Amino acid sequence: MTAAAAPLKIRSGVREAAPYVPDWLGLDRHNYVRLDRNEATRPLSPHAIEAVTNHLHDRGMHSYPDGEGLTDAIGQYCGVPGGHILATNGSDQAIDLCLRAFLGPGDTVVMARPEFPVFGHVAALAEAVVRGVPYNDDLTFPYERFERALERTPKLIVLINPNNPTGTHIDLAFIEQVVRTHPDVPVIVDEAYFEFTGRTVAPLTAKYDNLLVIRTFSKAFAMAGMRLGYVVAHPGVITQLAKMRNPFDVNSLAMVAAKAQLAHVDEIRAYVDEVMLAIKPSAVNFFSERGVAFWPGAANFVLVRPSNCQAVVVELKAAGILVRPITATPLAGTFRMSMGTQEEMTRVFDVLDGLSFLRKAEA
Ligand SMILES: Cc1ncc(COP(=O)(O)O)c(C=O)c1O
Repeated sequence: MTAAAAPLKIRSGVREAAPYVPDWLGLDRHNYVRLDRNEATRPLSPHAIEAVTNHLHDRGMHSYPDGEGLTDAIGQYCGVPGGHILATNGSDQAIDLCLRAFLGPGDTVVMARPEFPVFGHVAALAEAVVRGVPYNDDLTFPYERFERALERTPKLIVLINPNNPTGTHIDLAFIEQVVRTHPDVPVIVDEAYFEFTGRTVAPLTAKYDNLLVIRTFSKAFAMAGMRLGYVVAHPGVITQLAKMRNPFDVNSLAMVAAKAQLAHVDEIRAYVDEVMLAIKPSAVNFFSERGVAFWPGAANFVLVRPSNCQAVVVELKAAGILVRPITATPLAGTFRMSMGTQEEMTRVFDVLDGLSFLRKAEA
């Protein structure tokens, strides 16, 4: 039986959706410098490792997780009461819950494109219609066209700030204006990279009950493998979303590690400062000085358009460095590269400097 010929009556939205196939499938990524998935390139903090180890010793893993204290700790971090928080199995699950709560077959969701692909994927599974608004040619946010796309009221509005893979940021005043002027339409704001930008609308969830903010511990908190994300929204919305999630979707080790890290947020800030104030500027200088087309974006990654993207990606891989080739229109011919440690970046720059075909005459 081939997948395409499944005899059961699987919904068409599911049948027609493309499966998620990770780049470098089958490769042991641990043997490489991994700049391909916007992960942190530092290990989990010693506080989190200690807390997780103590938890394993003292409580083991034979009990179901009990989330005590996590939502209050996250709420405090976000500047809202704990009742505004729903912890999820990675922010991918938060996206899934939020979209499925509002979208059914034929419903319209407005988002700028190309978006972080999970949004399009979940919308397709829900058989919703994406009214996509292309980013401007320079990958800035298409403010006027987005507003025009909202003239016919959609079921849902998605704003990814900043977006992945474009790195595009959105003015917070614009986001609040959209939320305020569409009080009956839920507005989802993805802030997966909030720690790197320092710009958020999460506190506005106390004022607007149609605003839902999605965040993650996968990036600045270096917990991608533990799968912890969260939704910040009005408590009435959180209660509804919680019904759609299974009771134990978030595992105890993720909770323990997150609480330990939230007690030492200054360390996260130090990591973020190093990435954004030292490492990323060195990448920006590197590409600017060599005249290579690139978009710095607002987060801990850059998007690069060399003259021969495929060859650059292959050469980097041969040198033990993974980056992410992007194929979504109109970004074909670009690769996305997360910021590694300074040492890793020096290695990247050395390899790139050895490539004659790196440069492209114009952006
Ligand atoms: C914009 C954006 N949102 C959400 C996610 C999902 O992250 P996670 O499911 O690890 O929390 C990512 C991951 O790359 C992302 O880039």
